Amino acid sequence: MKSDTLKSFIVDAASGTHSRRDLLKTAAALGIGATAATGLLTQIESVKAAGQLEVFSWWTSEGEHPALVALFDAFTKSNPDVKIIDAGVAGGGGGPAQAVLQTRLQGNQPPDSWQSHPGHELIDGYVNAGYCEPISDLYASEGWSKAIPQGLIDQCTSEGEQYLIPVGVHRGNDLFYNKEVIAAAGVTIGESMTAEEFKTALDAVKASGKVGLALGDKDGFVPAQTFENHLLGMLGPDKYKDLFGGTGDWTTDEVKAVVTSYGELLGYINDDHSALAWSDATAMIIEGKAAFNTMGDWSYGEFVAKDVVDKMGYVSYPGSKGSFVLVVDGFTKPKGAPDPENTIAWLKTVGTVEAQAAFNPLKGSIPARTDVPMDSFSDYHKWSAASFAGDSLVPSAAHGLATTPAFKQAFYDAAIAFVTDKDADVFVQTLADAQAADKA
Ligand code: BGC
Repeated sequence: MKSDTLKSFIVDAASGTHSRRDLLKTAAALGIGATAATGLLTQIESVKAAGQLEVFSWWTSEGEHPALVALFDAFTKSNPDVKIIDAGVAGGGGGPAQAVLQTRLQGNQPPDSWQSHPGHELIDGYVNAGYCEPISDLYASEGWSKAIPQGLIDQCTSEGEQYLIPVGVHRGNDLFYNKEVIAAAGVTIGESMTAEEFKTALDAVKASGKVGLALGDKDGFVPAQTFENHLLGMLGPDKYKDLFGGTGDWTTDEVKAVVTSYGELLGYINDDHSALAWSDATAMIIEGKAAFNTMGDWSYGEFVAKDVVDKMGYVSYPGSKGSFVLVVDGFTKPKGAPDPENTIAWLKTVGTVEAQAAFNPLKGSIPARTDVPMDSFSDYHKWSAASFAGDSLVPSAAHGLATTPAFKQAFYDAAIAFVTDKDADVFVQTLADAQAADKA
């Protein structure tokens, strides 16, 4: 009985609808002394003030999750009483997470912050739909306007207001390889690779009895990303930007030749590709079952987590040296966040030098801020940072930066179908139709 009345007192106190005076009166009636009751109320109030922070992401892989935890640790340092809820939805590239998030947003149940790419995904998917609040005041107060390159800020901006704080910049057009596997196949790789050298290397690996190109297309983004890298390698950054930017023509012979050549590349993949996630394909090269994997450098995060950095090599996807495919990650401020003060504290943390210095070495990306000291970062990170500073920057279509969400979906569908049907005409026509629908 006594514990029941105590319980209802605590529930009343936590509800925030009763005055302290009334609560103390109730406590007295329950036989709880004034000092004890005041102490209890203070404790309840401090838990309420600390509250929770629900962070929504798809960073659940062996490499991704420790990087997210590094951000949580940075947050907890300055907000020790806030309980963090790690609302991760598994699935590389975020397809499953984005579906869950849309349902929550439409039902008016936002988390306190969610992971998004800038560009079209952010603006078309969330800002124009009315789900985000601007954070331009934080760009000013936290000095982000000066610390983050203008090109990135532009991708986070709509009608003069910023809506995302970027935490890391991934390079999407990488080709990773297992050094022992390629050496055993008699292949040597220098600073970069041409398409012809890549084909020769794949043949040599195949002849050595290993898989040439590891692919894990259980994750819907994988065929699209592989294709965009191939397209960039063959046509270069300007034509890439025209095509995904909506002005290029998908039905030309030149583009069809890219698709056909991409089909030939798929002749070197593992048979069980459709059962594997991106990280399983990365594991195939880590374990020496395959030679190559083309992926964004979140794969490097897997190498770090599995302590195999020295076994693995990297070059730009063949033909794409001189370009940097941007896959930028950041966090939003939701409209109607359950705990808006904690959202702001979280965004401030994510934007600090310290948090970005802790997160990016584990994630494989480079900091979005340019003032994070890079001395203790890996050689890979320094290589990527040099590419970011000097190369043509092109937004990823597979990761939602370059195109509308509708075009991205059509791109996924076409690229997934192509892995099995290899029908170049259907592929280019699907993209041409999606482009036309965007303009309609
Ligand atoms: C994200 C990365 C993530 C990758 C695989 C990309 O869309 O930007 O942060 O590691 O998907 O899940």
